[in-house]
Amino acid sequence: MSASTHHLAAADGSDTVEFADVDDVVERFADAGYLADSRLATTVFLQSRLGKPILLEGPAGVGKTQLAKTLAEVTGRELLRLQCYEGQDETTALYEWDYGKQLLYTQVLREKIGQVVADADTLAEAVDRIGAEESVFFSERFLSPRPLLEAVRSERPVVLLIDEVDRADEALEAVLLELLAEYQVSVPEIGTFVANHPPMIVLTSNNTRDLSAALKRRCLHLSLDYPEADRELDIIRSKNTGLSETLSAKLVEIVRGLRDLDLRKAPSISEAIDWARTLAVLGADELSAEILSQTANVVVKYDRDLTRALEAIPKLVDPNAEVPDHLHSHDHGHGHSHGHSHGSAHDHDHDHDHDHSGQTKRAEKDKPGRHADDYYGSPGAKSDAGLRDVSAAQGSRSFKAAPEKPSGRSRKRPF
Ligand SMILES: Nc1ncnc2c1ncn2[C@@H]1O[C@H](COP(=O)(O)OP(=O)(O)OP(=O)(O)O)[C@@H](O)[C@H]1O
Ligand SMILES: [Mg+2]
Repeated sequence: MSASTHHLAAADGSDTVEFADVDDVVERFADAGYLADSRLATTVFLQSRLGKPILLEGPAGVGKTQLAKTLAEVTGRELLRLQCYEGQDETTALYEWDYGKQLLYTQVLREKIGQVVADADTLAEAVDRIGAEESVFFSERFLSPRPLLEAVRSERPVVLLIDEVDRADEALEAVLLELLAEYQVSVPEIGTFVANHPPMIVLTSNNTRDLSAALKRRCLHLSLDYPEADRELDIIRSKNTGLSETLSAKLVEIVRGLRDLDLRKAPSISEAIDWARTLAVLGADELSAEILSQTANVVVKYDRDLTRALEAIPKLVDPNAEVPDHLHSHDHGHGHSHGHSHGSAHDHDHDHDHDHSGQTKRAEKDKPGRHADDYYGSPGAKSDAGLRDVSAAQGSRSFKAAPEKPSGRSRKRPF
């Protein structure tokens, strides 16, 4: 390996123009079954022209992941996906050294290695000689790319979905910065891989914590919310649920009514679709409070929410229905119909009387903005260096096993 910067495909500018204009985005997404409003379509169009990643934030089930999948489908690009989770380390995101393969090679080549050190007088000299050859073992041959490096090395243009980035720790977020800004990944032992086909990158977040300003700055930001009634009806219609137009329209209203309740997890688009299918399968020819109550578990997934939904459904079906007094208590202060833009998990803490410990823990993790405002960039925070200097962050990843030892293999570059 001689060059330290690897251009991985011909830089001939042959990457095609992905979309003619915003309408073209809307049309092609619709053909692929995804109904985009103009705000979303504009963001996708801008991404394709400006070459910037998109950061989608919003509650569960509003079509964030689906947008990335659809983008891959309509542009004919392969979809590479990095699913983020808490405690994830960079090796699952960037690359790993294939230790098994390295070991196999050293065993097979034992004799050859023996010759290299055969006439070394001291142990130190033997180590030096092996050290001089180590670049052989830290070369591309032994590199196992994970999604980020794979996206950069790909010979063909790809869509890279970095899903639920808010679940990952900020250390991983720091690692992403180099990729997002430069479309490159540094491997200290080999060099920097630069993509000649910039991947179209989509990051999604459910807002369980605030993302760093550094990350946000590199992206086109879009918050997705539950759609307008018309568009939700269009979406349900497009899924051929089997439920009639009239009942679907009524169902959309009821789902929107449920979203106005103070639920831990408001019903999403995907749940509305499931509900429509369920009702169609049951052959519902009207949406009575009874059939809706029997099937409400399709859209409401927590016991406490179910109780609240069951209480509210008769009133949602028929606003004149007699509703016992205590049911009004949850609605105060929620006069708007779409205020749940950042998930509906904002309000569990006053509900400890119902909490089992698992529920409390989960709720903590799902809570929007669970880190304080000064979480990033607070003076002396050790994440600071990582956020500013990506190669240092990556270096420490490789070096952390033996940071001080002068003969540590990762200190030494092959060139
Ligand atoms: N605009 C849309 N057009 C068509 N279908 C949609 C649209 N938005 C959402 N859907 C439907 O909703 C389903 C759920 O969407 P998706 O899985 O992308 O949600 P998400 O926002 O990624 O949720 P989560 O945060 O739980 O991962 C999709 O499979 C799709 O069927
Ligand atoms: Mg998703």
